[in-house]
Amino acid sequence: MGSEVLAVQDLHAFYGGSHVLHGVDLRLQKGELLALLGRNGAGKTTFINAITGLGVRRTGTIALNGIDISKADPEEIAMSGMGLVPQGRHVFPSLTVRENLVIAARVPTGHKAPWTLERAFKSFPRLQERHNQNAGALSGGEQQLLVIARALLTNPSVLLLDEPSEGLAPQMVDEVQRIVRDVKNEGVSIVLVEQNIRFALALADRVAILNTGRLVFAGSPEDLRTDNSLIDAHLGVH
Ligand SMILES: Nc1ncnc2c1ncn2[C@@H]1O[C@H](COP(=O)(O)OP(=O)(O)OP(=O)(O)O)[C@@H](O)[C@H]1O
Ligand SMILES: [Mg+2]
Repeated sequence: MGSEVLAVQDLHAFYGGSHVLHGVDLRLQKGELLALLGRNGAGKTTFINAITGLGVRRTGTIALNGIDISKADPEEIAMSGMGLVPQGRHVFPSLTVRENLVIAARVPTGHKAPWTLERAFKSFPRLQERHNQNAGALSGGEQQLLVIARALLTNPSVLLLDEPSEGLAPQMVDEVQRIVRDVKNEGVSIVLVEQNIRFALALADRVAILNTGRLVFAGSPEDLRTDNSLIDAHLGVH
């Protein structure tokens, strides 16, 4: 299928001798938002680390736009079009908002409608207002928006968001949700890792659940919403 941007097959991941992912299969179509859910320690960040080549040994196959990246290093993977918003909001605190963005900006050759600084400021007016402030002076929510904008400026084929709503005040969660929806509506393919089920289901086209390193559910948001036993078994009650 030509529209498949990410195909992960039989992915295993290891920290030293500790075997954390046990044969995960996931596919992402162009323009789709896949929510990856699971409790603390389920292996969600490990999945992100494994497909971006960061800090974990992996086996299995990972294809990005049909190209095998399972042996590539993190820099090659990023250059091939994987954009990451890591868990925990890593801005460069002593650089300004604008500098944080400019440092990342990259337009792959042949890109039709690239994200530029101007476009990012238009989509993220809060960042435009604060463009000259040091990133370290922003609120947690604004830092999260900045990291999302920074990842978009690399013009990724796939945007990976690892718990973007974690630790944010409710109105900032709504703001981040609005932004992620806008980004999706602009055609960006997204893997959204979340523990906030409501946030994830509001945005997802498809949902997958990890439990102790195994995929235990893959389906539509409706399938999950209407099956409380799945939520109880794998996500805890919210
Ligand atoms: N660097 C590491 N070295 C060894 N074990 C690790 C490392 N990082 C994570 N683990 C272990 O791997 C398992 C999966 O952790 P992971 O961080 O992927 O979970 P998660 O689903 O992202 O959880 P959370 O929702 O808390 O972020 C856990 O048992 C964790 O203790
Ligand atoms: Mg995590």
